Parts: sequence; C-alpha cells; structure tokens
Amino acid sequence: MTVTLRSFAKINLGLRIGAARPDGFHELLTVYQTIALHDIVKVSIGRGRGIEIRCDDPRVPKDESNTCYRIVETARGVLRAKGRVIIEIEKRLPVQGGLGGASSNAVAALLGLERVLKKSLPPTDRMRIAAAVGSDLPLFLVGGTVLGVGRGEQVYPVDDLPSVACVVVAPQVGVSTPKAFAAWDRFCVDSRSRLSGPGKARQNSLSGGNDASTLEPELTLPFPSDRMVELGRAYSACLNLPYSGAPFSVDSRRSRAENPLLELVRAGIMNDFEPVVFPEYPELCEAKRALERAGAKYASLSGSGSALYGLFRSRADAAQGAARLRETGLQKQSWAAEATVTLPRRQYWKRIFV
Ligand code: C5P
Repeated sequence: MTVTLRSFAKINLGLRIGAARPDGFHELLTVYQTIALHDIVKVSIGRGRGIEIRCDDPRVPKDESNTCYRIVETARGVLRAKGRVIIEIEKRLPVQGGLGGASSNAVAALLGLERVLKKSLPPTDRMRIAAAVGSDLPLFLVGGTVLGVGRGEQVYPVDDLPSVACVVVAPQVGVSTPKAFAAWDRFCVDSRSRLSGPGKARQNSLSGGNDASTLEPELTLPFPSDRMVELGRAYSACLNLPYSGAPFSVDSRRSRAENPLLELVRAGIMNDFEPVVFPEYPELCEAKRALERAGAKYASLSGSGSALYGLFRSRADAAQGAARLRETGLQKQSWAAEATVTLPRRQYWKRIFV
C-alpha cells in the first residue's frame, strides 16, 4: 500500500526576529499561512529494514540529514513499525526557498507513515516529534492561518483568513536560514554601534543618561521585544477585525471586514529578513519590486527567502501578474512565477491526502 500526500507550502505574513537565545535559536513572532502550491510525497513499506528517500532532485539529501528521514526515524520507533519505510518526494517547491518545503515534506511523511501503518500518534506526541526535527514543522500539523512564537515551533491556529490570490516568485538561488539569522545578528550589532557612535556617546553623556530612552526618538532602535509587541498589536487588531472592526455599525463592520488579510498588510507588517537578505541577493529585492509593479497589493520575502510572494486582489489579477513576471524572469533566466491561492485550514486538511 502506498499513501500519497500533497505537501503544501507556507508563506510568512510578517516576521519579527527577537533576542538570540542561549540555545542558539532566536525568538520569533510570525503568522504562517499555508498556500496551495505543493510537493507530492508518497509513503510505503517495503521488505527489509531502514529508511529510503527517493527524489529526482539532486539538491534533496537522501541520507539522515533529510527532514523526512529524521521524523520517520523517531516516529517508527514510537509506532513500533517493521519493514523498510520508503519515502518518494516529487519536488515542485523551491529548495531553500523559505516556503517550508522540507518541513512540509517531513510532516507529510509522518502523516503518511501513520496512515500506511494504520496507527496514529497522540496529537501532542506528533507536535513534539515535529518540533524536535525543525522549527517550521509544527505549523504544517495545523494548516491555514497559524500564529508562530517561540523559535517558530510553538503554533496556534487563529481564525482563518479568507483565501486570497497570490503569486510566488522563486529565484534560482537558495538562502541558508542559519546564515540569514547570523546576518541579522550582525545587522543588529552594527545598528546599535551606529547609534552609540562618538557623536551619540557625547550626547548621551551630556544629557546625563546612557539608556535607550535618552537617545533621539528617530534614532532609537526599538528593543527586540518592543518590535515584537508592535507586530503583535497589528496581528491582534487585524485578525479580530471581522468582530471588532466597527463596533457601532453592523453594515460598516461587514464592509471593513471584507478582507482582513489585506487589512493586515496595510497595518505595515514586515519581514525582518529583508534588510539582511536583500543586500546579499539584490535580485530578490528586484523580484519584490517586480511583484509590486505586476499589481501585488503587498509583496514580501517568505521566511528567510529566496522565494517572494505577492498578494493580489483577484485570481485574474494574480494570473496576469504571474504571466508578466514570467516574461521579466525569462529575460533574466533566473526566476519562476506561479499564481496560487492561500489555503484555509479546512481545505488544507481536505486536500492533504490524494
Ligand atoms: O529549526 P531549524 O532546524 O529550522 O533551524 C535551523 C537553524 O536556523 C537553527 O540551527 C538556527 O541556527 C536558526 N534558527 C534560529 N532561530 C529560529 C529558527 C532557526 O536561529 N527561531
């Protein structure tokens, strides 16, 4: 018996990086949103022992460094599975693209393994096993619109945002997530030393203080926690709009609540990876501008990249935008553009098993 699954991608609707933690990870605040683009993952049990990863894409590791391998290794012990677990991955999503492809593949492998064995793990064990393999896995055990905190592995389903048309642009480069986090740390150190440079130090000492509150407001770099609180406020206000948008008039509440997702991006959400990834890969910044020129109401890097997404007013606009972007991309020979939709939780679960 072979179980076939759609392994959907995610985008990040805003992402703030907080303090570096003693365990080497960073605090995060983000809203993940699953989208309809996907890989195909097939799980079967053969004769023999061990785990076998099959994939035509040479960039996908076939050994124990593969996230599917790691999750299956843990899960089959817990599930007391016998035989050889075979995982086939049909890769359509970009590798190192910030769309959570490898993480989603692993969750699909886990769900496929449970189904093929006709056994199921308690939901909390599933979450624990997924989080141990990577920060981006647990979101795929929720699907739809998901609040991510901690190192991104603590996930909470929030009211699903209505499906929105989008275009994903995948440039032909891969961005390493650990390197992007390290670049963010350097960026923070540089920003802080610019703020406390010689001129600044004199001003501080003249004003008799040395804490951040004594800096000029326009030069004050908000502390990580402040920046996260700010994004948290935007999330809270916008995700609650369908209920609280206009407490005194039901009619205007309806009209304002039409599209909380576009309201959310209007609130100024941003991805902290952009200022460190764009200088390193200028073509990604170019792709963001191209998305905006192609009609996106909002465009952003997804996770640490390299993929970018744009949100469009309608599917027709997105299809037109993608065609335009493909033309630009073809001239540059460097990126693919695909129109898709965001995938609410119910659809995510309805469509996951093929
Ligand atoms: O959890 P995951 O395996 O995806 O993380 C890969 C690497 O990315 C970590 O080893 C760490 O260097 C970095 N990371 C981080 N903070 C996070 C998530 C990942 O620094 N919240």
